[in-house]
Amino acid sequence: MSKEFSTIEKFIDKEDKNFLSIGGGIGGLELIINQKFQNNNFYFIERNYISKKVKYGWGGTVNDEAYNDLILQKNFLMMNGMQGNQINIFDYDKDSLPEIKFDVIISLLSLGYHYTFDLYIEYLKKVSKPDTKIIFDTIDSEYFKKIFKKVEIIKTDSETVHKSKRIVCVEFLN
Ligand SMILES: C[S@@+](CC[C@H](N)C(=O)[O-])C[C@H]1O[C@@H](n2cnc3c(N)ncnc32)[C@H](O)[C@@H]1O
Repeated sequence: MSKEFSTIEKFIDKEDKNFLSIGGGIGGLELIINQKFQNNNFYFIERNYISKKVKYGWGGTVNDEAYNDLILQKNFLMMNGMQGNQINIFDYDKDSLPEIKFDVIISLLSLGYHYTFDLYIEYLKKVSKPDTKIIFDTIDSEYFKKIFKKVEIIKTDSETVHKSKRIVCVEFLN
C-alpha cells in the first residue's frame, strides 16, 4: 500500500479533510493517508460479503462481486490508529450513501476498473466540488476526457493483462 500511496501522495493537500473511498477493501491506503495527514474524515462505500470464488477480471455492467467484511474493516482501521469518529462506513447494498462534498475520492482497482464508472457517475456529480480530486484506475483514460475538465495519468500498468492507467480527474464537464 505504501507503493500505492506514492502514486497519489502529491495530489493530497493538508487542507483536504473529507475523503471518500469506493471499494477500498480493508482500508490500508486510507490508514496511510491518516498517518501522514491527521484528523481527516474517512467515508467508505463497500460491500459486506465475500464472493465464493475469486473471479479474475470480473466487471462490465454486472456488479455482484464483493470481497469485504465491514465489521472486520472497522476493527482493522481502529486497531491501526484511526479514531471511531473519523470512520464512516456505508454498505453499498443497504445504506443511503453519504451526501456531503468530498475533497478527495479514491477508488483503486475498483470503480471504473472492475465495474463500470456509470454506476456511480450521478452520485459522484452530487458529492464533488469543482476542485475535488477523483482518483481511479481505468483501461480507457481517453473516455474520461469527455467526462472531466482535467484528466491526468499518474501511473501506467503496461505489463498487466488489463493495461490500465491510474488517473486523477477534476471537475465534471456537465
Ligand atoms: C479488487 S478489490 C480492490 C480493493 C482495494 N481498492 C485495493 O486496491 O486493494 C475491489 C473492491 O471493490 C468492492 N466493490 C465491489 N462492488 C462495489 C460497489 N458497487 N461499490 C463499492 N465497492 C465495491 C469489493 O468488495 C472489493 O473490496
